[in-house]
Amino acid sequence: MGEGYRIAVVGATGQVGTLMLRLLRERSFPAREIVPFASERSVGRELDGGLVVEALTEDSVKGFDLALFSAGGGTSGEWAPHFAKGGAIVIDNSSRWRMNDEVPLVVSEVNPDALENHRGIIANPNCSTMQMVVALAPLHREAGIERLVIATYQAVSGTGKRAVDELLEQSHALLHEQDVQPPDSYAHQIAFNALPHAGSFAEGDDHTDEERKLINETHKILDDPTIRISATCVRVPVVNGHSEAVNVQTREELSPERARELLEDAPGVSVLDDPGAALYPLAIHADGKDDVFVGRIRRDPGHERALDMWIVSDNLRKGAATNAVQLAELLHERGMIGSARLTRATSSA
Ligand SMILES: NC(=O)c1ccc[n+]([C@@H]2O[C@H](COP(=O)([O-])OP(=O)(O)OC[C@H]3O[C@@H](n4cnc5c(N)ncnc54)[C@H](OP(=O)(O)O)[C@@H]3O)[C@@H](O)[C@H]2O)c1
Repeated sequence: MGEGYRIAVVGATGQVGTLMLRLLRERSFPAREIVPFASERSVGRELDGGLVVEALTEDSVKGFDLALFSAGGGTSGEWAPHFAKGGAIVIDNSSRWRMNDEVPLVVSEVNPDALENHRGIIANPNCSTMQMVVALAPLHREAGIERLVIATYQAVSGTGKRAVDELLEQSHALLHEQDVQPPDSYAHQIAFNALPHAGSFAEGDDHTDEERKLINETHKILDDPTIRISATCVRVPVVNGHSEAVNVQTREELSPERARELLEDAPGVSVLDDPGAALYPLAIHADGKDDVFVGRIRRDPGHERALDMWIVSDNLRKGAATNAVQLAELLHERGMIGSARLTRATSSA
């Protein structure tokens, strides 16, 4: 054991939690101890690497430097304050704290300085917002975004592990001419279908919560509530990797060539844009990668100050786990994690 922090990963058995554990290891984040937490169902389960899942209790959440949460809004609402009160900085993947005025909503390449204002809890944006703002921020800085018209094509992994199983089970049944079980994760069958219903409709709202998140979180991260945004979020039968068709109208003139140049220089962005050679971003290629991929960058023939583009990323990586770990790395680099607690293990440790 070397020097490092005591870290909790809450939701450690889930898709995002599993990936956060792996990324902490792969990126050699300074951890002297990592404690995985999940629901009562998983307590005692041994994870890859030998860590054993613990239960969230008043006592077990004490004494952490950092807590990475990906266990849904209810768990974050209840337990994030306990961790924060115990001295940990919480980085939360759920939507529970994102629009709270006292909680910074941070994308590592876009608004890292917002971290400085945290009061114990930091929110990781929604996956479809995250990948979009990584690509839009450089264009916004250059030409000022006036309006966005967005259609998303979101993978089922964004709903959770059960939704992935459901897509695979339905597909298997249909391909083998078996009966398809009634849908559970979505209102309708997702296999061989496209559902204009990603997220849920709150009573009286004609937009889904996913569409509202895309609008509200974009305003907060880009720190510009004047951007006019239209969003339609669609769930498609893709296992992993969200795709987005985005029409970007700017205040100043911005050519497709200049936008391509800006995006080629942008951190965390890869431009794949040679449509004649069938080169453009694809969910199956983005799967397992950390970058945001942008292509089909072109002038909107219907507006002289608008561009169209296609933005794809791994929603579990940059859309969730990678950004959470990048935020932890930024906190570490800036000396913001209780430095008194960064202990150097003695030779006997
Ligand atoms: N998937 C994405 O693309 C994405 C992107 C951004 C943000 N997020 C957010 O990240 C969170 C997790 O997503 P996921 O895809 O990883 O979901 P998932 O695969 O369904 O995993 C959910 C995790 O939460 C744990 N959990 C559930 N109820 C709990 C409770 N009462 N107490 C403690 N732990 C509990 C589960 O433990 P058990 O295994 O014991 O049930 C599991 O570890 C959600 O808030 C989601 O909105 C997801």
